[in-house]
Amino acid sequence: MNATDQKRAAAERAAALVQDGMRVGLGTGSTAAFVVEALGRRVGEGLRFRGVPTSEATRRQAESLSIPLATLEEEPELDLVIDGADEIGPELALIKGGGGALLREKLVAVASRRMVVIADASKQVARLGRFPLPVEVVPFGFETTRRRLASFLREAAGRPVETVLRRGSDGAPFLTDGQHWIVDAHMEAIEDPARLAAGLKALLGVVDHGLFVATAGLALIGTPDGVIEVGKDGRTTRGDR
Ligand code: A5P
Repeated sequence: MNATDQKRAAAERAAALVQDGMRVGLGTGSTAAFVVEALGRRVGEGLRFRGVPTSEATRRQAESLSIPLATLEEEPELDLVIDGADEIGPELALIKGGGGALLREKLVAVASRRMVVIADASKQVARLGRFPLPVEVVPFGFETTRRRLASFLREAAGRPVETVLRRGSDGAPFLTDGQHWIVDAHMEAIEDPARLAAGLKALLGVVDHGLFVATAGLALIGTPDGVIEVGKDGRTTRGDR
């Protein structure tokens, strides 16, 4: 299986977890899009559930498939969220936000009793940080926030960390659904995700960041040989049944 097939296989497995009556967070990104597609099919076959999208892109996709939707205001407590990730590390600590939806993704994830993360095999890593860590910031006073962030990261990493303002194809700063900007921090290695997460959260001008620590309970990872299930304790079982 190539990466796309692996994503699809993991997504199909996750979509099968949704049962009648559930309130389900719908993730963002190419892997989560396969979940939404599968759930659209299941709705056509009679499944009744309500989805809470984590981005405008996912909302549009779900609406086009006639999936009944709610906002987080209408459904503040969810049974399950299924979402992708950019990196899955030990204890299922995640880097998310490659697609720019990290803030809504985190709000939906913490409102959910259970988070299942889905990915292809390339996303599983022994240590987080090769994928640039997205940090969502307010545009007002951006340069002061960027300096504060760079100085904090230099101290946390013990060396200078490259921080890059994300831009769209038109060259303008990439704007999130919440009208914020994103700085991608090239950490290379994150030794203590929980500590870094807490430090980032305390910085003025930072809205949130792409570290999800102690949030996911299960990972379904597509591999060339099929889908594996990885628990928080690292225990891995073949998911093919
Ligand atoms: C969106 O902001 C991200 O958190 C995605 O979940 C993440 O980037 C994974 O995307 P893919 O499934 O497209 O790799």
